[in-house]
Amino acid sequence: MKRFSLLIVALFLSFCFSFALEGMWLPILLEQLNEPEMKSMGMRISAEDIYSINKSSLKDAILLFGRGCTAEIISDEGLILTNHHCGYGQIQRHSSLENDYLTNGFWAMDRSQELPNPGLSVTLLIRMEDVTKRVLQGVESGMTEQQREQKIKANIAVLEKEATSGNKYGARVRPFYYGNEYYLFVTQTFNDVRLVGAPPSNIGKFGGDTDNWMWPRHTGDFSLFRIYVNKDNEPAEYSADNVPYKPKHHLPVSLKGAEKGDFTFVFGYPGTTQEYLPSFAVEMITAHENPPAIRLRGKRLSIFDSYMQQSDLVRIQYSAKHAGVANFWKKMIGENRGIKRLDAVEKKQALEAEFIKWAAADPERNKLYGRLIPEFEKLYGEFTALNVDETYLIEAGLSIEVMRFAYSFGQLAALSQKKDASPEELEKLLARQQSAMEGHFKNYHKPLDQKVFAEMMSDWFGHGDAVNIPAGLQTALAKYDGNYEAWAEDVFKKSIFADEARLTLFLNKYKKSGYKTILKDPAFILASAIYSHYFDKIQKDIEKLTVRRDSLQRVYMTGLMAFQPDRRFYPDANSTLRVSYGQVDDYFPRDAVHYRHYTTLEGIMEKEDPDIYDYVVEPRLKELYQAKDYGRYAAADGTMRIAFIASNHTTGGNSGSPVLNADGHLIGVNFDRNWEGTMSDLMYDPDQCRNISLDIRYCLFVIDKMAGAGHLVKEMTIIE
Ligand code: ARG
Ligand code: GLU
Repeated sequence: MKRFSLLIVALFLSFCFSFALEGMWLPILLEQLNEPEMKSMGMRISAEDIYSINKSSLKDAILLFGRGCTAEIISDEGLILTNHHCGYGQIQRHSSLENDYLTNGFWAMDRSQELPNPGLSVTLLIRMEDVTKRVLQGVESGMTEQQREQKIKANIAVLEKEATSGNKYGARVRPFYYGNEYYLFVTQTFNDVRLVGAPPSNIGKFGGDTDNWMWPRHTGDFSLFRIYVNKDNEPAEYSADNVPYKPKHHLPVSLKGAEKGDFTFVFGYPGTTQEYLPSFAVEMITAHENPPAIRLRGKRLSIFDSYMQQSDLVRIQYSAKHAGVANFWKKMIGENRGIKRLDAVEKKQALEAEFIKWAAADPERNKLYGRLIPEFEKLYGEFTALNVDETYLIEAGLSIEVMRFAYSFGQLAALSQKKDASPEELEKLLARQQSAMEGHFKNYHKPLDQKVFAEMMSDWFGHGDAVNIPAGLQTALAKYDGNYEAWAEDVFKKSIFADEARLTLFLNKYKKSGYKTILKDPAFILASAIYSHYFDKIQKDIEKLTVRRDSLQRVYMTGLMAFQPDRRFYPDANSTLRVSYGQVDDYFPRDAVHYRHYTTLEGIMEKEDPDIYDYVVEPRLKELYQAKDYGRYAAADGTMRIAFIASNHTTGGNSGSPVLNADGHLIGVNFDRNWEGTMSDLMYDPDQCRNISLDIRYCLFVIDKMAGAGHLVKEMTIIE
């Protein structure tokens, strides 16, 4: 008994210690849960200043940007700030050989030069509300998971309808704590968002993938947009008559900087975290899913690299693809190292052992929670095998570009075989396929993809004892005597989907009987084998297991909260608005190595290498450096600060989020995490986890001094 309670105390202490800076908190609950701590850490504003429905507050300046980033309003004329990598797609779309904004940067010198971006929207939160009671109304303990789901869905539909009737808002109800709580979010979406400014890539993407996920960092990762509205200050589709949005609040920008120990908070839209998984799940992710995904991506990246080095065209064609593959590849490597270093699986196992004992000590608890951990174990046994199959299927099979592309023609084949398909319908689909084809081949290099095919298949089959390979692939390979190169060569020689000229001709002269060509195409046949294996052998089973997992996880969450009544729980990130807070802080990544909490322009000059694409320094920046011409943007010690780190708990989606000081003034823009801390999506370590932010003074310096767009700085509210 004594040992038991000592352990509990030790566990509790370790939570108190390690959870102090961890967490992504709901703005609506700050006052109740966090305000005293935030104030004790130095915050000078109140929770009500951050989120209020009675008066304007900081939340009125925070935006969900596009599909997965955050942005903030920084002037009373709707000017907004986000990351360069968040605006990358828009900057790229406006770029051409004559106007290469990606390379040279873009600055609208007046409003008429600001560029519209069809398809881009930003969303403001109007209010949020705890609707748990109403969502769970009529849900009874005896219900099956399916009945429960149906009831909840119906209740949510009513709530969402209610929230949007008689206004122009959007509304969504989202589950928290795995369905233990529900919150309603009422939102306002703006569709006329124009590009205002972007630095050249050798500032906005300085360090590229080499420095990605790393500290020390020197990337000027920002871009500027503006929200336009109709004359009533309401959202409207693009129109030349639209005017800049007048926000309820815009963030004042502070030139005071941040030093070690200063309180900071991040206000934005973190995407996904999974902090309350059982040990079996963390083991599944880090020991079974990540390793093959890391290996397969590594192979793909070295193929990309070798072809990109040989040709400028291929380098441009594959730069965005490379960045995407590399980003998650590097994240997974960091995550696995972090989980190991933290002994995360062992820590979770110890917690589960205590949880089991706690449950067993009381008959009522035992009934509720006694079987949970063994059930998780059984479930993840089944889950792991399926997830490994899925990982190979996606990271090997579907990473071959021609597979996804060929399969997208299945719809055309199906429609062509339909007797009653109208010519108009067929025309429409054909036009869509033609434009998809142009987009596909614009960034496609056949020899590269052929090499990827051979390598991916060879790796997949090489692990055939541990993973289920689609039957259709096995039959196909048999014809080539296990020679992957020969197989690849044959497929790429014969398939029309790997050949732009042949496919163009085929589509230009397309007749309904063309479906036969599609169905007997070797790439289409292989792609169909992969996809049907996925639909029949993986997806349905994963769905079933997911339902079971969600219901176990829901009960486990309730159980954990009862087991650790003094622990302050925060809900996992789910792309809803959150506040994370912490302090500007340095760290020790490994024995004897100390990382300072900020970087300076000196570091850019240290990294400079005119021969390496990622480390070319913008000439104008160098001039300003040599003249030490930093104006009012210099730090007190005379240096130009580039980036800083702090212990705010962030994740993907927090890109572009404002980093604010104790007064709620903007001091930075979040854009990354340090490599040693990337496991924080599964377990946070206050010793090692840091978010990386652009220093706002460097951002203003680039706008004003480097680009000569000082008129934009004049719009802002600057605190000197
Ligand atoms: N790691 C950052 C994030 O997860 C930046 C990614 C973009 N930059 C890049 N070099 N790929 O989004
Ligand atoms: N770069 C990430 C993003 O695009 C943020 C880094 C992170 O995952 O914390 O959201």
